[in-house]
Amino acid sequence: MTLSNNQANLMAEQPVERTIAVQCSGVVKEFGAGQARIRVLRGIDLEIYAGETTFLVGPSGCGKTTLISVIAGLLRPNEGVVSLYGEPTSQMRGNALVNFRAKNLGFVFQQFNLLPALNAAENAAVPLVVQGMSLAKAVRKANELLDRLEMGKHKNKYPNQLSGGQQQRIAIARALVHNPRLVICDEPTASLDAQTGHAVMEMLQELASAPDRAVIVVTHDSRIYSFADRIASMSDGQITSVQMKQESTLMLEGR
Ligand SMILES: Nc1ncnc2c1ncn2[C@@H]1O[C@H](COP(=O)(O)OP(=O)(O)OP(=O)(O)O)[C@@H](O)[C@H]1O
Ligand SMILES: [Mg+2]
Repeated sequence: MTLSNNQANLMAEQPVERTIAVQCSGVVKEFGAGQARIRVLRGIDLEIYAGETTFLVGPSGCGKTTLISVIAGLLRPNEGVVSLYGEPTSQMRGNALVNFRAKNLGFVFQQFNLLPALNAAENAAVPLVVQGMSLAKAVRKANELLDRLEMGKHKNKYPNQLSGGQQQRIAIARALVHNPRLVICDEPTASLDAQTGHAVMEMLQELASAPDRAVIVVTHDSRIYSFADRIASMSDGQITSVQMKQESTLMLEGR
């Protein structure tokens, strides 16, 4: 079938329906009190789309970790609204927020935040156990992911027996194990060699390619920029630009 010019034009004008995974509107975050009060997020407006991997980049101290902590509901904004998949999570309280986060969110912390008393497999299994799965079944699922991350032979080791890169992979397995709709990673490849970093990014990209899933990656790691669908740049508590892959590749290459 061939389309007339008119039909083709009409199709071209159809807006593409994209699910908004994260919407930040006028988000302000301050720390401290009185004279020592500092405004770290200074009115963030940002949309993150499902089906994409969005990178958040910017100089040290510009507020990246603070922003993703606010998005994840780990910090409450002083002003503004954060919605995840249309739900205003910044206004949720108590159990509603905890349950929403447990079901929908995977988070890789910059400092990993593993539980020292649990071994690698148990750490990675925590989100499933929190949702009520038996420990044995949760550990089996966690082990599948650890195998994919080439951590199979370290499953029974404790965090203090593992290198930074190995701990990072447990943190990544823990963020993915419950198949959350939104995965947020703070410098997920910082402790990884190039090959493992690539394998991790391939897993994240595969997850984000599903139409209802989204991945946010905070990074300084230029080795992985090619995995971004969109790059949001931050400076001094504000979003200064959001660019699609092709534009952003040019921008980053020009650095
Ligand atoms: N809990 C806190 N109390 C007071 N100040 C804080 C707190 N958390 C962060 N800050 C300050 O907010 C600013 C932004 O910190 P943030 O950790 O968000 O930066 P970042 O962009 O993630 O930096 P990096 O790339 O080094 O990880 C910094 O000046 C930091 O000192
Ligand atoms: Mg940070």
